[in-house]
Amino acid sequence: MIVAIDGPSASGKGTLARGLAKALGFAYLDSGSLYRAVAAKLLAAGFDPNDAAVAEQVARAISPDDLERPDLRSEAVAQAASRVAALPPVRAALLAFQRDFAKRPPGATGGAVLDGRDIGTVVCPEAEVKLFVTASAEERARRRSKELIEKGESGIYARVLKEMRERDDRDTARSHAPLVAAADAVEIDTTDKDANAVLAIALAVVAEKRKSFRRD
Ligand code: C5P
Repeated sequence: MIVAIDGPSASGKGTLARGLAKALGFAYLDSGSLYRAVAAKLLAAGFDPNDAAVAEQVARAISPDDLERPDLRSEAVAQAASRVAALPPVRAALLAFQRDFAKRPPGATGGAVLDGRDIGTVVCPEAEVKLFVTASAEERARRRSKELIEKGESGIYARVLKEMRERDDRDTARSHAPLVAAADAVEIDTTDKDANAVLAIALAVVAEKRKSFRRD
């Protein structure tokens, strides 16, 4: 079974994806870390994240080890990731990695959970379960600034909200694989819900899907 989870940053999709993978015993891929790894490697080598030719080369050479880089979570890398993510050759280069993971999840598990922006629409349109996780921009900025402050970084709310809106705009407005809910996705608004409540909703969707499998 493939579970595809899409949504904007700080919507709670990563927490949900990890929780679901653990509860179901599935492998988990945070596809955003692929785009972040490309961006981090470009920035570290002094390249412009809008340089499509170099970014494509870097994307083609991405390995699982790159996803463990300690610099992936910075705001500078997040912004650069949404720039490289708008380049079609970069997206094409990262597609095989994601589809392989979904088809042959590591660890011989019974399935895979992938989260990102285009998992249900482009990477795994055949996924049995598709979830689209949202929350208000204000709530997402509040969560993100709390996270930054906990890490000892500057988390000024107004700046975080502004940068989040810029990234949302780039991710939804790009012509190639924009952030959009698949027509058959179940939408979960996490604005007023904690992680356990969101996980319970998602587990109910998975259980319902398994029941309909058995009926078919
Ligand atoms: O999910 P995360 O915030 O780590 O993703 C970083 C950036 O990578 C996003 O802003 C988006 O531009 C890009 N991304 C994407 N498609 C995905 C996952 C992430 O375009 N499937």
